[in-house]
Amino acid sequence: MLVEKWPARITRWFVKGHRNMPWRDDPSPYNVWISEVMLQQTRVSTVVPYFNRFVKRFPDVHALAMAKLEDALLVWEGLGYYARVKHLHEAARLIAGKNGGELPKTSRDWMTLPGIGPYTAAAIASISSGERVPAVDGNVLRVMSRFRGNVAFATRSSAIRNIQEMLSPMIRSVNPSHFNQALMEIGATLCLPRKTKCHLCPLKYECISFRKNGINLCPVKREKEAVPHYQEVAGAISKNGRYLIVNKYRGNMLHGLWEFPRLRVDGNIDSRMAAKALLSYTGLHSGSINHVISFKHAYSHFCVTVNAFSCTWRRGSVKTILNRCARWAPLSEIEKIPMSTVSRRIFLTLTRHGKTTSIV
Ligand code: ADE
Repeated sequence: MLVEKWPARITRWFVKGHRNMPWRDDPSPYNVWISEVMLQQTRVSTVVPYFNRFVKRFPDVHALAMAKLEDALLVWEGLGYYARVKHLHEAARLIAGKNGGELPKTSRDWMTLPGIGPYTAAAIASISSGERVPAVDGNVLRVMSRFRGNVAFATRSSAIRNIQEMLSPMIRSVNPSHFNQALMEIGATLCLPRKTKCHLCPLKYECISFRKNGINLCPVKREKEAVPHYQEVAGAISKNGRYLIVNKYRGNMLHGLWEFPRLRVDGNIDSRMAAKALLSYTGLHSGSINHVISFKHAYSHFCVTVNAFSCTWRRGSVKTILNRCARWAPLSEIEKIPMSTVSRRIFLTLTRHGKTTSIV
């Protein structure tokens, strides 16, 4: 049987020159779990400071399980995709309650926890426990599709399955943690979507796309859909030194991040009308209205331009639709509760610059 040389070559390449990451210094199941969840849809450079803060604050699964969700959200604030931290917290409670705090060892067991799909389970189990299971995410899919020179599969999941099958025998003869991380590292640093660095790649001798000089043809790129762009108005409404903040209510629980009240508005209305619409939505009346900041914020599938204003309450009470999840909080408290990125930016503008211009 032909023994492929490249699996051993890429693991040597990884060991010799991989980037430093805090979870690589101590790849305990807890550290790897937290890092892999943070790395979902997020770059390493963004994750590093969040990871360091998170494990300092919640050093093990018990600390995370005992914490309030709101405290975990606060450490996560700004990293986005907040369902991830809710799932982490829920999983920590399950592990602490059921397993006496022992983390799973196999990818199968990891998959039973909230927020863990096949890729994350394989990454955690291979890196922290040495399970011989390939971890195929978008980066690895791109690397291996180019490597094999095959341009298209009917669906992404069929392509992933096919590559997992192809990698399964390869991972048997090498260190599975190093092998999987080598492929991730090649995808993140060399085999980039556009500008590839093929001459530095340890796969270049066997890579069919490189040998055929077809690297940029493979895999076929889907046309990017236009991202919808919405207009929003947000209001920092104060009453006796406290600001109105709201949170989503689901079931009997407050969920997620606090916000200044926000409303999507027609792009054609002016900022005065938009502010009035938001006040009417809250049920409140105010004195003069001041512009605080306008900025664009991108979410995964759309973006918004937010026009934020500040004003002082004059009369009225918060409408009942908002009332279960709305409260008046002093700035000193708003500093300590988890807020959406949009509202945190408004808060920081208000407290750091304090400069506003009158709209009405
Ligand atoms: N992306 C996802 N997991 C990763 C890891 N362990 N190392 C580098 N990049 C990653």
